[in-house]
Amino acid sequence: MPIIKILPHPEYCPQGAEISAPAGTSICEALLDHQITIEHACDMSCACTTCHVIVREGYTSLNEVDENEEDLLDRAWGLEPYSRLSCQAFLAQQDVVVEIPKYSINHAKVVHCAGHPMRQIFLDTETTGLSPDNGDRVIELACVELFNRKPTGNNRHYYVNPGRDSHEEALKVHGITSEFLKDKPAFERVADDFLAYVAGADVLIHNAPFDVGFLNKELSLLGRPTFGSQVGQVIDTLAMAKELFPGKRNSLDALCDRLEVDRSGRTLHGALLDAELLADVYINMTRGQDALLIEPTTSEVTGPAMDSVDLRTFELAVPLASEQELAAHEDVLKQLDKASGGKTLWRLAA
Ligand code: FES
Repeated sequence: MPIIKILPHPEYCPQGAEISAPAGTSICEALLDHQITIEHACDMSCACTTCHVIVREGYTSLNEVDENEEDLLDRAWGLEPYSRLSCQAFLAQQDVVVEIPKYSINHAKVVHCAGHPMRQIFLDTETTGLSPDNGDRVIELACVELFNRKPTGNNRHYYVNPGRDSHEEALKVHGITSEFLKDKPAFERVADDFLAYVAGADVLIHNAPFDVGFLNKELSLLGRPTFGSQVGQVIDTLAMAKELFPGKRNSLDALCDRLEVDRSGRTLHGALLDAELLADVYINMTRGQDALLIEPTTSEVTGPAMDSVDLRTFELAVPLASEQELAAHEDVLKQLDKASGGKTLWRLAA
């Protein structure tokens, strides 16, 4: 029997695995049979992309991709030349090596599936320059909160007096002058409120190492533990975007354009505006297949279930062709008869 080697995936298969399945089995079925619970939102009917995998070895041994799969693959995240929908990829006799993409629609959906509420904070900073190790400091800090993927309005926005001027280049980017900041509080005075606000949440940052480096520097100056140790997890949306759109520009501006997020209000970089844009980008980036993955509303998470509707009670209206339409159809068939020497397929099918 052919062997499927599955490369490590942090959620489905942290150590990687090797399984075997009879030829003719789809990769998706084989994975599920071996408790590797890859998503399969359409129940393997080739109507979603949640079962997307990349076949690193043995791609050509699989059945060919048909038109339907090809169309769906176009919508898959992080599409690669050797991408397949695993429910449509059937094993032959040859072994294959398969990678389950790290980010997929599953990433956005995982908490909903588990039925747990999800608090996410989208964070951005502005700074006096590029290097916290050379004395650059945070001057603006903004957080936008989403609860179960819906904005709550419970945001935070601080301007901070850094006790020094911004570098000229940084000033051109953010436009926040020392004059403006001179009566603002020092980081120390906002730290408690900020840390209480982000405590335990998933914090999403575009190019997270940059902002986290600055936050860690500010916290270390106060003798506080690192930022990452005080939140649920830090997710770098830039790393995520690079996986989803390999080889493309993935700046916040580029993502806004690609994902149709309106950034017309963005002339200078402002932390609050950028955090809001990032939240919108993230929602669009993780909204691959709303039709199949219906996001629960708050009431679904916390309140009573909605009444179910029995669709069998509905009668489907079937409009019939008129005399005129039937005559026009017959005319076309006659023309086809003539052109094909009587081999019109539509007549055979009838
Ligand atoms: S499970 Fe939907 S296409 Fe494979």
